[in-house]
Amino acid sequence: MTRLSGKSALITGAARGIGKAFAARYAAEGARVAIGDINLAGAEAAAADIGPNAYAVQLDVTDQASIDAAIAAVEQEAGGLDILINNAALFDLAPIVEITRASYERLFQINVGGTLFVMQAAAKSMISRGQGGKIINMASQAGRRGEALVGVYCATKAAVISLTQSAGLDLIKHGINVNAIAPGVVDGEHWDGVDALFAKHEGLKPGEKKAAVGAAVPFGRMGTADDLTGMAVFLASSDADYIVAQTYNVDGGNWMS
Ligand SMILES: NC(=O)c1ccc[n+]([C@@H]2O[C@H](COP(=O)([O-])OP(=O)(O)OC[C@H]3O[C@@H](n4cnc5c(N)ncnc54)[C@H](O)[C@@H]3O)[C@@H](O)[C@H]2O)c1
Repeated sequence: MTRLSGKSALITGAARGIGKAFAARYAAEGARVAIGDINLAGAEAAAADIGPNAYAVQLDVTDQASIDAAIAAVEQEAGGLDILINNAALFDLAPIVEITRASYERLFQINVGGTLFVMQAAAKSMISRGQGGKIINMASQAGRRGEALVGVYCATKAAVISLTQSAGLDLIKHGINVNAIAPGVVDGEHWDGVDALFAKHEGLKPGEKKAAVGAAVPFGRMGTADDLTGMAVFLASSDADYIVAQTYNVDGGNWMS
């Protein structure tokens, strides 16, 4: 298990959930992994859980100074950056007529602006070092089609797929592969919150939405964070050198494209 031996990675929003699972798997594969999160205490706890290959970095993906400081911290700690996973994101849910401007702005700021400007800072660092790199953006099945109550989040994830295509085409000349992963429904703290929002808006009991979405997955259950780590290792490895600007569904069969 050393497919990322000697590589330096930064994973945003990795204090918990899918990002933490990515960090643990990358560390097990031999990478030195920066856990970047707005929740520094959570990032430090995740790094302690994972072990000596992981370290915490303070990062607010909506703040340019924080992004620049996080990239500088990774360069100092690990001698450069080889792999970025743009994983931090926020979810919200409301009927179209109830969407607030504050929710719209916050989701676009984190999910789209965060993805773009962390990708930009990472690309600058990779270009100046001259060794190429791998960038993986976290999209979603939500970016493949709209959902009645999930208009803003779906739009942010469609934007992540589009940005992945444009950045993939622009950065491959520097040896930087930009691709994305589109998960389906992944169990964890994030989906506990989603379930509570659906319960409120659809008059469901707690846990009911989760059970329904899990039963509807062709594979037969919701995903786990660990179901996604293999794709994250593959896209960061030299096996993916010829893969450019793609978004891979890892969703138990929910979406076909
Ligand atoms: N869980 C799912 O079902 C699912 C499905 C499809 C796509 N995704 C995507 O996968 C990724 C990870 O999802 P998750 O379920 O682990 O989410 P999560 O909510 O469990 O974790 C998100 C992390 O991002 C951090 N964060 C929030 N705002 C930040 C900011 N401004 N700067 C830095 N960090 C910030 C949080 O502190 C948290 O640690 C997200 O991009 C999400 O949209 C998740």
